[in-house]
Amino acid sequence: MKSMTLAGLGLPFAQKSDPRPATLADLKDLISQYSEIAPATLAENEEFWTGIRAQYNLKPDYANLENGYYNIQPTPVLEAFLRHVKDVNYEGAFYMRTVQFDRKKAIAARLAALGGCTTEELVITRNTTESLDMIIAGYPWKPGDEAIVAEQDYPAMLAMFRQVEKRHGIIVKRVSVPNHPASDADVISVYEQAITPRTRLMMVCHMINNTGQGLPVRKISDMAHSHGVEVMIDAAHTYAHIRHTIPELGGDYYAASLHKWLSAPLGAGILYVKKEHQAKIWPLFAEPDGSAEGIARLNHTGTLPVHTDLAIGDALDYYTTLGAERKEARLRYLQQYWTSKIRDVPGIVVNTPADPTRGCAIANVGIKNIAPGDMATRLLQQYRIYTVAIDYPAANVRGCRITPNVYTLTTELDRLVAALRGMASASA
Ligand SMILES: Cc1ncc(COP(=O)(O)O)c(C=O)c1O
Repeated sequence: MKSMTLAGLGLPFAQKSDPRPATLADLKDLISQYSEIAPATLAENEEFWTGIRAQYNLKPDYANLENGYYNIQPTPVLEAFLRHVKDVNYEGAFYMRTVQFDRKKAIAARLAALGGCTTEELVITRNTTESLDMIIAGYPWKPGDEAIVAEQDYPAMLAMFRQVEKRHGIIVKRVSVPNHPASDADVISVYEQAITPRTRLMMVCHMINNTGQGLPVRKISDMAHSHGVEVMIDAAHTYAHIRHTIPELGGDYYAASLHKWLSAPLGAGILYVKKEHQAKIWPLFAEPDGSAEGIARLNHTGTLPVHTDLAIGDALDYYTTLGAERKEARLRYLQQYWTSKIRDVPGIVVNTPADPTRGCAIANVGIKNIAPGDMATRLLQQYRIYTVAIDYPAANVRGCRITPNVYTLTTELDRLVAALRGMASASA
């Protein structure tokens, strides 16, 4: 999925220079003009969201509807990030030896506050892969233990489960979640049926990456716990996208990537581990003797691009200024805006539930008779719309994943709808 290159599609990387970078003050000013309007109503106000769009430096060559990989930084965050790069470089080892760790802790505390958990339960990592793989690899497995995963889980974690299967002699069972569940019970029963007395851990996506389907993780967690099974939640796609607190999801472990919906610089993530489980996980990088306890045991990383940690603070400022509720309402509106226009069109298959409570920004659409890869290529070359092809029959998905962002306008989605209709009728 990550291997499709623009160079391969003949598009050059041209940079547009921004004469006067947008600032957080501009955002505050914009918000103040619309502060009386409720988020659900504001979600449909193109004028306001055109103002948000002006906070980004966007490549004009195509409509970027592949924000599921990562969310580019709005200009105020990007400018702050660049300042942090310069400042850390200016201070050098002095920074690293004096305030580095306190600054990181302070940012982690803000992330924990947003996630509604304690600072003793959350650390900053580089991404969801690192966070979840740390738990999968570090779990105190015994031969014959069982774990449950889904075909719809992210391939990197599935690969790590395969590795621990070989290494520790455990059994990993794969379930498959329906694309269009009729009820929460439909999803919960899929996981419950795979549980045996030997099941120790279950991995559950808060939002499936290929389709954008949101899963009822709290109910799944409660069910799993009633069988004595621990739950690891992959929230790569929901932190700073769908409002929630980490504890209310009921998981024992939770991870997210901050370069996705928080729009932090690339290479930022979080790991949450419930206090009672922290001592039993083997750290990926061993701690020097006695130097750390609690979740800090799992966070001995070596030297990292620490300016990224600092910019997470700016991304948090941006997110809270824009408003979590405004953002979520807009993203859900945009998904519903385009999917509702094509769900009934012959030849078009939407792989994401219609119920707005079972998703938010992301949806997946296929066209009968067109391979997903060809569909993505035609969307880009013929219609100047960038998406990603998902050709993954084992997970019931053949189509393109469409992920708008807060800078996406409905005119771009109208282009997408016209393109889908055109391709479907030409291929009928
Ligand atoms: C559901 C899910 N989990 C995990 C990941 C891995 O995220 P990262 O590459 O930031 O580690 C992704 C990436 O798209 C994802 O969609």
